[in-house]
Amino acid sequence: MNQNPRSMIIGTGSAAPEKVLTNHDLEKMVDTSDQWIRERTGIERRHILEEGKTNSDLAKLAAERALKSAELKASDLDCIILGTITPDLSFPSTSAIVQAKIKAFNAAVFDISAACSGFLYGLTLADSMIASGLYKNILVIGSEVLSRMTDWEDRATCVLFGDAAGAAVIAASDGERGVLSTYMKSDGRLGNLLHCPGGGVSHPASHETVDQRLHYIKMEGNKVFKHAVRTMVDAAVHGLDLAGVRSDKIDLLITHQANKRIIDAVAQRLELPDEKVFINLYEYGNTSAATIPLAMDEALRKGRLNKGDLCLMVAFGGGFTWASALVRM
Ligand code: UT7
Repeated sequence: MNQNPRSMIIGTGSAAPEKVLTNHDLEKMVDTSDQWIRERTGIERRHILEEGKTNSDLAKLAAERALKSAELKASDLDCIILGTITPDLSFPSTSAIVQAKIKAFNAAVFDISAACSGFLYGLTLADSMIASGLYKNILVIGSEVLSRMTDWEDRATCVLFGDAAGAAVIAASDGERGVLSTYMKSDGRLGNLLHCPGGGVSHPASHETVDQRLHYIKMEGNKVFKHAVRTMVDAAVHGLDLAGVRSDKIDLLITHQANKRIIDAVAQRLELPDEKVFINLYEYGNTSAATIPLAMDEALRKGRLNKGDLCLMVAFGGGFTWASALVRM
């Protein structure tokens, strides 16, 4: 008999900046149109963090909301895992900055760089840490301020991204509910299709790297699109197989929110009808590591996801990385 405790999500929270940038606003900035963006991506608007605020401010809000919904104090946390590719600083980690801001002084903290899969990578680790019996309450956050690494002169990328944070508190399960399976995978050979070349030690910040616009997201959208569909289906199928669950048992599919056409293709391959698929990219665009916890929190608040429901979450991102988690809520 398996003695390891199963983990479960006992609270969620999210935060998006107030400022909204619509497709019509973007028409005034680059050669694009509301029609192109809606038809090719499904995105209508995105939220942009105001100057003077940073990633950890958004993450703090999401974290506090998740703690409130879990009915826990920050001091109850023994670990904080934060997925991001837009950290406040190179170091210390953004999770350490969030720890100080929410006063979670009993927690160990670390960041994960797995791009859009960052939250599900974090959930996978949290699940294993709970199963080890050594950790009780873990806060997993996905938080991004992509607007600060978006090239606002590149129409191929600037219409896609937005800022947001989402968080979930993971604790030992009290029964049948909880995380039923997790799955993580990567392929570093494909990293150049979606990356930010500047800022690391390969190309440290200099006048030259700034002039060459190396500190912005670069993406070969078309190639990334095909891998996104393939890998998210792979993650979904493996996650279901590991738990011995058929796709028709899923109550809600939450995928990474990058493009409505990608989400539709994944749902179609899993033979899931529209009503079993959660989409909120119309409102936020692609918020990388924040998309999954933001969508999960919204689905719970809107009653699209309820206690006892079977939720399959799948993500794909730069690296490449991809992951899934099957959860009985
Ligand atoms: O979060 C990580 C995962 N990221 C993703 O999953 C993103 C995956 N990729 C995509 O979602 C899509 O590839 C994009 C939305 C990025 C692009 O859509 P697409 O249908 O693949 O367009 P495309 O790149 O093949 O470009 C088609 C045309 C091109 O013009 P020509 O060469 O046919 O004349 C582009 O220059 O659309 C043009 N175009 C635009 N036109 C108006 C590209 N961006 C824009 C734009 N507005 N914003």
